[in-house]
Amino acid sequence: MVRVNSHYQMLRAGYLFPEIQRRIKAFTAKHPEADLIRLGIGDVTEPLPAACRDAMATAVEAMGTRAGFHGYGPEQGYHWLRQAIAQHDYRQRGCDVEADEIFISDGSKCDTSNILDILGDDNRIAVTDPVYPVYVDSNVMAGHTGPADDQGRYGGLQYLPLTADNDFCAPLPATPADLIYLCFPNNPTGTVATRAELQRWVDYARSHEALILFDAAYEAFIRDPELPHSIFEVEGARDCAVEFRSFSKNAGFTGTRCAFTVVPKALTGRTSNGDAVSLWQLWSRRQSTRFNGVGYVVQRGAEAVYSSAGQAQVTRLVTFYMENAAIIRQQLRSLGLAVYGGQHAPYVWVRTPESRSSWQFFDQLLQEAHVVGTPGAGFGAAGEGYLRLSAFNGRAQVEAAMARIARCNLR
Ligand code: MLT
Repeated sequence: MVRVNSHYQMLRAGYLFPEIQRRIKAFTAKHPEADLIRLGIGDVTEPLPAACRDAMATAVEAMGTRAGFHGYGPEQGYHWLRQAIAQHDYRQRGCDVEADEIFISDGSKCDTSNILDILGDDNRIAVTDPVYPVYVDSNVMAGHTGPADDQGRYGGLQYLPLTADNDFCAPLPATPADLIYLCFPNNPTGTVATRAELQRWVDYARSHEALILFDAAYEAFIRDPELPHSIFEVEGARDCAVEFRSFSKNAGFTGTRCAFTVVPKALTGRTSNGDAVSLWQLWSRRQSTRFNGVGYVVQRGAEAVYSSAGQAQVTRLVTFYMENAAIIRQQLRSLGLAVYGGQHAPYVWVRTPESRSSWQFFDQLLQEAHVVGTPGAGFGAAGEGYLRLSAFNGRAQVEAAMARIARCNLR
């Protein structure tokens, strides 16, 4: 009989969001009349920018002609899209990133997981706690961890707490780490890293020959011009970091699928013999073997994000969601709740009232307010006692959700 990957047996419960869906399904089966407001999963709600739609419509028409038809594209992505990204997202911010260092993909979730294909099985791994569960679960699936303890912490991983007590600045690893996952603006806490904070990580990584996997999927939500959008704005990052970016949250591509990963050409890792090997070469080899690229039509849509109309429309979308975040922050504060994040990120991280557990508060909001959040404990042991609310919804829905929460018994 075929053997399965037994590492999957070590995964705790379901992936967080399917588990939330399961609870919602059970609730709506009992209360089919309930009008749920979803502030749980970070999925965008507003329509795609017109510039992207127009570009995709033009591309679809072209695909219907012999002259404009496109078959397999370059696995790394079309040069015109990589060029636009390099120019707008990096060079304009003073980062030395070339189009050749950019790999277009169908999502940062996939890339942060797939990157493990080119890394060894014996790296010492550090993650923040709470953390985007994909980083941890994909390491469990790859057999890089031991079993989970009662709190859901996997053996072999080093967890770096991100809490209100440390101002959401995780401590550097107490024992050396080879591979470090960072996400800023942070999912789930909605907090952001300063340049000095990122410099601290880059300095650590360089002095320990470690690799930082930097997830910047939410960079568009940064409002303060002093804050870095990319780890490559920090001195030395090209020697020690790979960056993941996405069109999902800024341009509403969660259902359209387009993202990219930046792997500096000179970045290296070591073989078991100690020889330095280019990570760019390995990632390029991996992608060209296992990936056929993102569709032409979608890449044309992504390219339109960088047109002047696209930039203005994306700014409007991001501003809209950030106004939602401000409403959530302000309303919850007025109810006496401790609230973090939501100023440079579309997530608001709320301390549960009266020491309720994350799942208790999740259930209370579901039952009493018909509002769906995401329990902080689902992001790691240090997320216990918090709930994440996403700003991705319509204005009327956000306002109604806040009014309903205000009517809940929070004592
Ligand atoms: C989230 O809610 O954390 C996000 O939707 C995750 C993702 O983008 O995959």
